[in-house]
Amino acid sequence: MSKRSVGVVTGAGRGMGLACARRMVETVDTLVVVDRDAVNLDGVISELGTLAEIVPLVMDVSDRAAVAQLAVVAEHGELRGIAHAAGVSPTMAPWQTILEVDLIGTALVIDALTPFITEGTAAVCFASMAARLMAAGTTVDPAIDALLDDPLGDGFLDALRSAVGPGIEDSGLAYAWAKRGVHRLVRRTAVPWGRRGARICSISPGMIDTPQGRQEADAQPAMAMMLEHTPLGRFGTAEELAAVVAFALSSEASFLTGTDLLVDGGVCAAIEGLT
Ligand SMILES: NC(=O)c1ccc[n+]([C@@H]2O[C@H](COP(=O)([O-])OP(=O)(O)OC[C@H]3O[C@@H](n4cnc5c(N)ncnc54)[C@H](O)[C@@H]3O)[C@@H](O)[C@H]2O)c1
Repeated sequence: MSKRSVGVVTGAGRGMGLACARRMVETVDTLVVVDRDAVNLDGVISELGTLAEIVPLVMDVSDRAAVAQLAVVAEHGELRGIAHAAGVSPTMAPWQTILEVDLIGTALVIDALTPFITEGTAAVCFASMAARLMAAGTTVDPAIDALLDDPLGDGFLDALRSAVGPGIEDSGLAYAWAKRGVHRLVRRTAVPWGRRGARICSISPGMIDTPQGRQEADAQPAMAMMLEHTPLGRFGTAEELAAVVAFALSSEASFLTGTDLLVDGGVCAAIEGLT
């Protein structure tokens, strides 16, 4: 008899994480759903609880002690898929929190789950097109990239602030650096994971119609310009992103690893064409 399978979705309470959970529940015996919002996780259990065993973990992914709870996967079978969607955006938090959740949190989640990967495990970490737009046409200081590659190091935030300068206190810029760190983490991690037959990618959404995406669009006038320049002429949906994640996690994508999937309705291509 084949082993029971387990999937993990973070940020599963709403938005793209919830859309990923709705897809992943069809492919595993047990789904571990992670969110810091207990009420939204209750909704996930009510909706998906008849389709698979649901194991809820109410926790903050940037809490170093709490992420150890992810070891629960080992009690439920073989780790098949990970969709790491928990994250905060520029208007949601100060710069330090953005880096703590979006980059440090990603490193903590991947570190906590690495002991359980096996032949065929696949992971997708949510980044953002913001990282690509920030770096387009520029050369990033290798010293900054070296810092981004060690987000769990002592004094990470202070060192990054010294290297980038006070501009990093702009939460939009902190967000772009954090997501660049996610791109780099995935490339780095793909090498040791590949030796164990496991894969890891990032996904960089453009403007997506989720609670977070709507909050950013309402607060940032630049978003209207981005929407205007999106070749497909609209926001993406959470389901469209979850479909790409489902593909990247499936055996259909068995040679895909160490790369970023830009799913932005073409807006980066259009903006690069303007410069
Ligand atoms: N929506 C967009 O337009 C867009 C664009 C680019 C990138 N992204 C990224 O995609 C991911 C998902 O975005 P979304 O739009 O679905 O967001 P969302 O805000 O709608 O949902 C995010 C979920 O993550 C949870 N969460 C946030 N911080 C957490 C933490 N520290 N610990 C545990 N759970 C936490 C929230 O409670 C929420 O349920 C995020 O990483 C986001 O930065 C979103």
